[in-house]
Amino acid sequence: MGEQEKNRSVLPVHVGIIMDGNGRWAKKRFLPRPAGHRAGAQNFRTITRYCSKIGIKYLTVYAFSTENWTRPKDEVGALLRLFKEYLEEALRDFMDENIRVRFIGDVSAFPPELQVLIHEVEEASAQKTGMVLNLAMNYGGRAEIVRAARRLSEDVAAGRRDPEDVTEEVFSQYLYTGGQPDPDLIIRPSGEERLSNFLLWQSAYAEFVYFDILWPDFTTKDLDHALEIYASRQRRFGGV
Ligand code: IPE
Ligand code: IPE
Ligand code: MG
Repeated sequence: MGEQEKNRSVLPVHVGIIMDGNGRWAKKRFLPRPAGHRAGAQNFRTITRYCSKIGIKYLTVYAFSTENWTRPKDEVGALLRLFKEYLEEALRDFMDENIRVRFIGDVSAFPPELQVLIHEVEEASAQKTGMVLNLAMNYGGRAEIVRAARRLSEDVAAGRRDPEDVTEEVFSQYLYTGGQPDPDLIIRPSGEERLSNFLLWQSAYAEFVYFDILWPDFTTKDLDHALEIYASRQRRFGGV
C-alpha cells in the first residue's frame, strides 16, 4: 500500500473544525477584527471544498457559539453580515458542489432575513449526495444537550416514549446531529487547546489535533497534516 492509500484507509469519516484565531490574525496586521473574520470566511470556503474533494463524509465547522453574542455589537454585526454574504453566495454558486448544508444551533435567534437564507440553503442542498457540511451557528454543546433533554421529556410526557427505553442511541437522536456519526477528529487552530462548548456529547471519543496557526492562515497542507496525525493515532474506545 502506498503512503497515500495507507492514509486514505484511515481517513476520518467526520471532521470537526473550531475556526478560531480570526481576531488575532487581524490584530497582527493592524486591521480591525472584522477583517480577520472576512479572511476566515474565505478560508472556510477553501477548506470546505478541499474536505469534500478528498472524501470527508461529514464536516462540522464552528462558526458562532452561543457565547459569541457577548462580543461588542459591531463585531457581532460584522459576523452576521458575513454569514448573509456567504449564504447568498452559496445559493448562487455553491450549489454546483455536491455538498449538503445543514445548520446546527439555535438559528431562531438570528435576524429573520438570515433565517430565510438558512432555510433556502438547507432546502436547495437537501438532495445532494456528497459531503454533509454542518454549520454550527449559535451553537453550544450544553444548549444542544438541554434542548435534546427538553424534547425527549416532551415525548415522554406525551406518552410517545417510555423512560425505560431511553438509551445513549435514543438520546443522541434528539441532538442536532441525530443520525450522523460522531466526529472522529476535531481540529482547533489558533493555539487554544479547549473545546469551547463544541460538540460536547459527540466528541466523547474524538481525536483532538491543535495547531499554533491562526484560522485564516490554516491551509489545505495543514489539514493534510492533521489527517496524518489522526492516521497515526491509536484509538482504543476504552478497550485494549
Ligand atoms: C473565531 O475567531 C471566530 C469566531 C469566534 C466567531 P475569533 O474571533 O475568536 O479570533 P480570536 O480568538 O479572537 O483570535
Ligand atoms: C470558539 O472560539 C467558537 C468559534 C470558533 C465559533 P472562541 O474564540 O469563541 O472560544 P474561546 O473564547 O477562546 O474559548
Ligand atoms: Mg477565539
